[in-house]
Amino acid sequence: MSYPHGAELYRGKAKTVYATADADLLLLHYRDDTSAFDGEKKAALSRKGMVNNHINAFVMTRLAEAGVPTHFVRLVGPQESLVRRLSMVPVECVVRNVAAGSLVRRLGVTEGQRLAPPLYELFLKNDDLHDPMISEDHALAFGWASAADLKRMRELSLQVNAVLTPLFADAGITLVDYKLEFGRQAGELLLGDEFTPDGCRLWDAGSGERLDKDRFRRDLGGVVEAYEEVARRLGVDLPAGE
Ligand code: TMP
Ligand code: ASP
Repeated sequence: MSYPHGAELYRGKAKTVYATADADLLLLHYRDDTSAFDGEKKAALSRKGMVNNHINAFVMTRLAEAGVPTHFVRLVGPQESLVRRLSMVPVECVVRNVAAGSLVRRLGVTEGQRLAPPLYELFLKNDDLHDPMISEDHALAFGWASAADLKRMRELSLQVNAVLTPLFADAGITLVDYKLEFGRQAGELLLGDEFTPDGCRLWDAGSGERLDKDRFRRDLGGVVEAYEEVARRLGVDLPAGE
């Protein structure tokens, strides 16, 4: 890593977080590691860290331009980005435009069914408990988020949908669903974490081909190739192959 950084603060499943000389900024290193099923299935996929770092930078920049406050500051290396340090809300916000994944398993609805208006769900961020679904009342009762946070998380999650659904559609991709995480800095709630094919479902608009982490979950192969296809279609500049 070329950017000057301090101590390793946290090693997640796919990213490592480092301190920097500025107490308000963190360095995120996107590793090639991939995990699924709450960390039960793991692999290292060459180039994935670099591709996701660049897709995330592109998406966060588009969101910021549309007025969504995010923690992203700038790219500082092939697999590194500088972000604002947040105090994270331990709740995952999921927006769904098409039925898939746990929604289909939970309710027995048909995969591929369009959801209009989009569905908004909350999950507790806890791998040991397999990220159980919660309601806003659970978040309030246990102090995971305030009423104002919850209102803002919902509003921003749906604003992200309004920005990204057409962005992906113009690239011939259906934005099926995605997960967002938020955090606070100086009293303001910002979008944190990442937006990459690791945390959303992206289907080719014509064929329905999966272009996201379901390729890894279901052993479909060509995981990073699919992520690179997403980057190419969005017009994300990737550094030449190493
Ligand atoms: P789900 O269908 O498994 O509930 O996931 C919905 C979307 O959110 C899907 O695109 C994957 C993403 N997601 C994560 O990336 N990590 C998580 O921990 C959860 C709960 C969902
Ligand atoms: N991101 C989570 C994990 O790595 C959930 C998933 O993608 O299946 O376990």
